[in-house]
Amino acid sequence: MELLSTLSISQLKPFGAKLTNVDLDSLEQRDRIRNLLFENGVLIIPADGAKAGNRPIYDEESLLQLAGIFGKLENSHPVIKSKDTDVRVQLLDTMGNTGIPANSFLFHSDMSWRINPSLATVFSANILPSSGGNTCFQNANLMYRNLSPELKNKLHSMSAIHSLKEGYSRGNQPDEVKSDIASTHPVVIKHPETDVPLLYVNENFTVKLVGMCEQESAELMKCIFEEASNPDQILSHSWTVGDVVVCDNLGVQHLAKADYKEFRRMYRLVVHDSNLRLKPYVGVDK
Ligand SMILES: [Fe+2]
Repeated sequence: MELLSTLSISQLKPFGAKLTNVDLDSLEQRDRIRNLLFENGVLIIPADGAKAGNRPIYDEESLLQLAGIFGKLENSHPVIKSKDTDVRVQLLDTMGNTGIPANSFLFHSDMSWRINPSLATVFSANILPSSGGNTCFQNANLMYRNLSPELKNKLHSMSAIHSLKEGYSRGNQPDEVKSDIASTHPVVIKHPETDVPLLYVNENFTVKLVGMCEQESAELMKCIFEEASNPDQILSHSWTVGDVVVCDNLGVQHLAKADYKEFRRMYRLVVHDSNLRLKPYVGVDK
């Protein structure tokens, strides 16, 4: 028991941190874990590396306790279904007879189509294919810093429209999304916790740059993604059943690789702040 009072942290490459000896009942650890998320972007907690009371970290109650460190939880999603036992635990089902195609997603920030996108996402692997299905993460601050000075300057004053309906129809979903939710956000935002600049356009849900015609917008977005993305800066997590991963949903973009054929089920808990509004980044580059 004494051993578990000391949180163990190992830095991952190219970013992120792995946590072991996690004890969710420790108030001191809970504060530390909150800070670690915003310092590192991604926290990986192996199935056997944590507990909450006598429960394992991947237990439903533990997942709720972990997600609660970061704020309030969503209790519904327009497309993704929830567990019968608790609506705050969403089911990301892909492949098999009941799941959506694995290639339904491009790199994205969860719910960027909403006026208050989610702050953090907790994932846990429940059923995995025999191989493949890694989740990949890109750091949005690094994505911004990869841009040329000319492009940074151009983007500082721009906004972009993000759409649920267009995002999911791009994503090869079998059932058409009936009604849309769309929001406009600055292209470069200030992280609400750390103040660092973040690139806040994504290939999945961002549909258009404001003030440009369709073609101009599509060409500039292609240019942004080419400059911002660097394969050497992607963190790729290979799952074991029961692993839990927390990601800073504004500071990091993510997608699951579509390189598997069997059924895959992830649990997802989404943290939000109803008062959050994304602010443009103005100031000296960090
Ligand atoms: Fe997602």
